[in-house]
Amino acid sequence: MNCLNERNAILKINIPVMINKNLIIGLFSLLLFNSCFAQQSATSSTNILIEKRIDNLMRKMSLTEKIGQMYQSNYSNEDLAHIQQLIRQGKIGALLSPMDLVKVTALQKIAVEESPNHIPLLFGADVIHGLRTVFPIPLAQAASWNPGLVEQAARVAAEETSSFGVNWNYSPMVDIARDPRWGRIAEGFGEDPYLTGIMGVAMVKGYQGSDLTKATSIAACGKHFVGYGAAEGGRDYNTTYIPENELKNTYLRPFYALKQAGICSYMSAFNDLNGVPSTANPFTLRQILRDEWNFDGLVVSDQHSVLGLINHGIAADPAEAASKAIKAGLNIEMGSTSFLDFAHQLVKEGKISEKDIDESVRDILRIKFRMGLFEKPYKGTDTKVELLSNYNKEVALKLSEQSIVMLKNDKNLLPLSDSIKSIAIIGPYGNNPNEMDGCWTSHGRVEDVQAVLPAFQNMPGLNVAIRYAKGVDNCTSTDTSLFKEALEAAGKSDVILFFGGEHSEQTGENNSRAFLRLPGVQEQLLKALAKTGKPIVLTVFSGRPLVLENVLPDVTSVLYAWHTGIMGGPALANIIFGKVSPSGKLPVTFPKAEGQIPLYYNHKPSNQPPKKELGNYSDYRTTYNDFSNTPAFPFGFGLSYARFEYSDIKLSSQQLHFSDTLLVNAVVSNKSTYEGEEVAQLYLHNKVSSITRPVKELKAFQRIFLKPGESKPVQFKLSYNDFAFYDLNNQFTVEPGAFSLWVGPNSVDGLRTDFVIGK
Ligand code: BGC
Repeated sequence: MNCLNERNAILKINIPVMINKNLIIGLFSLLLFNSCFAQQSATSSTNILIEKRIDNLMRKMSLTEKIGQMYQSNYSNEDLAHIQQLIRQGKIGALLSPMDLVKVTALQKIAVEESPNHIPLLFGADVIHGLRTVFPIPLAQAASWNPGLVEQAARVAAEETSSFGVNWNYSPMVDIARDPRWGRIAEGFGEDPYLTGIMGVAMVKGYQGSDLTKATSIAACGKHFVGYGAAEGGRDYNTTYIPENELKNTYLRPFYALKQAGICSYMSAFNDLNGVPSTANPFTLRQILRDEWNFDGLVVSDQHSVLGLINHGIAADPAEAASKAIKAGLNIEMGSTSFLDFAHQLVKEGKISEKDIDESVRDILRIKFRMGLFEKPYKGTDTKVELLSNYNKEVALKLSEQSIVMLKNDKNLLPLSDSIKSIAIIGPYGNNPNEMDGCWTSHGRVEDVQAVLPAFQNMPGLNVAIRYAKGVDNCTSTDTSLFKEALEAAGKSDVILFFGGEHSEQTGENNSRAFLRLPGVQEQLLKALAKTGKPIVLTVFSGRPLVLENVLPDVTSVLYAWHTGIMGGPALANIIFGKVSPSGKLPVTFPKAEGQIPLYYNHKPSNQPPKKELGNYSDYRTTYNDFSNTPAFPFGFGLSYARFEYSDIKLSSQQLHFSDTLLVNAVVSNKSTYEGEEVAQLYLHNKVSSITRPVKELKAFQRIFLKPGESKPVQFKLSYNDFAFYDLNNQFTVEPGAFSLWVGPNSVDGLRTDFVIGK
């Protein structure tokens, strides 16, 4: 299963040479099969050995020490002497880590040398988009549609993180998010299960590397299991209702992809899922994760989410919370101490069994053995990692460039031509290194960030006069006293470059927003600037789709930069002056108004679909009587300086058997004088099936580079897993029937063809 999926993934991304295609594909498959087989036997003998080592170790462990493995203490909240004492007694299995090699090594030394059975500790941290080299936020990384580059960035993050002794990372977040009001949309990869899965797997590969035991490999943790992104009203931590079928067809998909990629751990979510909080949900934690998926790694709670069961009202006190979470299959409690304080007593009282504890501890030890911690407990001590190296910055620059999405470019204003002699840089992000990194960047440093103004001033060979005026003090300021200066700078310049958006603190955990327009007086300033008659390029820094409807008519071009990480300044300068053509595509639908939310491309067809007047965007469901139901910008959308055209869509067959594979060929041509990269996207629709299916679903994509005037073939390979879905009996199945398929530049435009799958 693993090997087959891997093979599909490889074939989807590479175009095999077309001469004697079948022979080549056959040989390729054979090679892969053999290497997978060899790998599997090596893995299974290692696994048998690990299980034996776990048996031996567990025979020696007391109940107290076993329960200790299930506790993760928060280093920054606890007294150090107390932590040391608990480690010595074998009462801590993991720490929410200090980012300090000396401290980590000292604590590990206590565990390895002084605790009863010398079991090494896990040191966990949230390195969500880079450590010292801060990359664009994950949502931006998804906009690159470049999993290879995302993997490279995650590798850099793993190297830097491991050099601090940390061996476990709470990333990737693969929560499907269809509600931009939810602040944590910034931390994941958007609304689509396929794209989210691909990006999540890229990060897992980057963190865990090809060999978990290597010095710079760190364990990954897929979070938040599961459904957290569907919080009602976009309010963080809120209730979710997701029917099992939808859970399996949408929300669980990326988590399953992580499992197939060999992820070591998951984190349970804060949400109440269909009446049972995720942290104590036996259906998701046991039935799905263990029984259906055979996941044998560990599950950690979110911070204090075990105690949160009392807030949910399903536990009267910490002891009952511990009992429910342990019985549901949770392995480690993060932050709070209800396992540590009450598990022993619960076993004695017969409320949980020692077998429950044993099963849980086995999973934890298994991961520690797989990571090679018993042999090499001290990460970061025997390798030299250069933080923020030139290579790391180069990866950050590339990722930032590829994640920037051009949403509008009237009269081809961008790239700025040689006739532009002066620019006015205006807005709260015009020179703001403090906020470009975005949320979750506790270890980034302001001095590492290359802000917009200096990047433009230092751009080699740039021969334009640059004026700078903030216009507003910060994103949310309501003071208009700086407008005058900005208007003067604008009046003297050929083009206005406005860098605005939302504060980084308005995004991430516990930062939901009810209003998504540019905050403060930015809209007012843009409107005042528009009155000068000078063309405006609006660049938006944000952690979510913002509602730009009110200012779109006032600006000529829009670049959506997200929160860019440290290299945002040079990335934007390169794009605005045409050194690089924009190539990002939206990983999430942009609404025109908050009242349209949730608005996502892969919705179900309705009984009364919208009328034709909705034009291209007719896939978006039921109309409002007071507003449009179409998005501002659809999923997958993004402009380029180049002009790409799609042609010659061809299928290997229009009539398939359900176990057949389908080759989809098309040609992409660059009809412009600019070189550029395009992300060709393939969408599928199951026209008639036993349950309603999304109007379109992304099934494959390919990023290609095209020189001016060049045409290139793209080829996609689809097979059983791409056609299948969970039916109402929760069988993952392909139903015979008619399908539509599109290949194109986004989720609404594209060439369409149909085919049928027979029995
Ligand atoms: C967040 C998690 C994070 C954990 C540890 C929680 O508040 O929800 O995503 O990994 O804290 O920092």
